[in-house]
Amino acid sequence: MAKIVAGIACSHVPAIGAAMDKGTTDTPYWQPLFAGYEPARDWLAKLAPDVAIIVYNDHASALSLEIIPTFMIGVAGEFPIADEGFGPRPVPVVQGHPELAWHLAESLILDEFDMTIANEMPVDHGLTVPLSVTCGQPAAWPFPVIPICVNVVQYPPPTGARCFKLGQAISRAVASFDQDLRVVIYGTGGMSHQLQGERAGLINRRFDTEFLDGLTRDPIGLTKIPHTEYMREAGSEGVELVMWHVMRGALHERVSEVYRHYHVPASNTAAALMILDNEVTT
Ligand SMILES: [Fe+2]
Repeated sequence: MAKIVAGIACSHVPAIGAAMDKGTTDTPYWQPLFAGYEPARDWLAKLAPDVAIIVYNDHASALSLEIIPTFMIGVAGEFPIADEGFGPRPVPVVQGHPELAWHLAESLILDEFDMTIANEMPVDHGLTVPLSVTCGQPAAWPFPVIPICVNVVQYPPPTGARCFKLGQAISRAVASFDQDLRVVIYGTGGMSHQLQGERAGLINRRFDTEFLDGLTRDPIGLTKIPHTEYMREAGSEGVELVMWHVMRGALHERVSEVYRHYHVPASNTAAALMILDNEVTT
């Protein structure tokens, strides 16, 4: 049977990907951020998962504002890298896992989550930056990926509680897949940041720290945060954090936090990377 072995929470700041693509990660500005990624890369390389589910949001790359699914799953054999205005990032094409993806689609929809199915979909920085952060710059990504998109760009995004329940349904779906696959699930986006308006540049270290603490110790309590609190405390783009609840919902109630890296600033955001071991409970 397939099982989820770990969860990864990871910011998907586009400038982080650009720094890797341009070879500027050793500069004084970026070095402290990237130094904190090394232990996580080592940990993931040792874990060597068979497949990753990456929960992220599309930033009007695959989808314009004409159609915005709340939840969408990519079932393709591969996903090209989106051109976000500067040409596609020079990173490997993302290989999919259609067999598990179709199983997830069927299981989730029959479990009453009305997923949109994407047979073709370019993937943008929301998905590729967390891959770069956790896998470095390989010639090919070390595992296939199933993209799951969540709408956080057009009001109303789903609630944290609904996202958590989707994660629980993903956990049930993975557990009912009859191949012995070790699956890692990513929740991406966040942490506190606001890209426009009078509060552009907002960072809230206290909120971010409490959120990270709660992700391990009180995930259900964390799902009760309303959208207005994300907006007020974590900025207008901080609502991306609802995607972390999908990842957390897919894990056991008790998990072990094996790694945490939090750094300010990364571009104009607070960036975090956290690894939760789903096989070692605390
Ligand atoms: Fe984003």
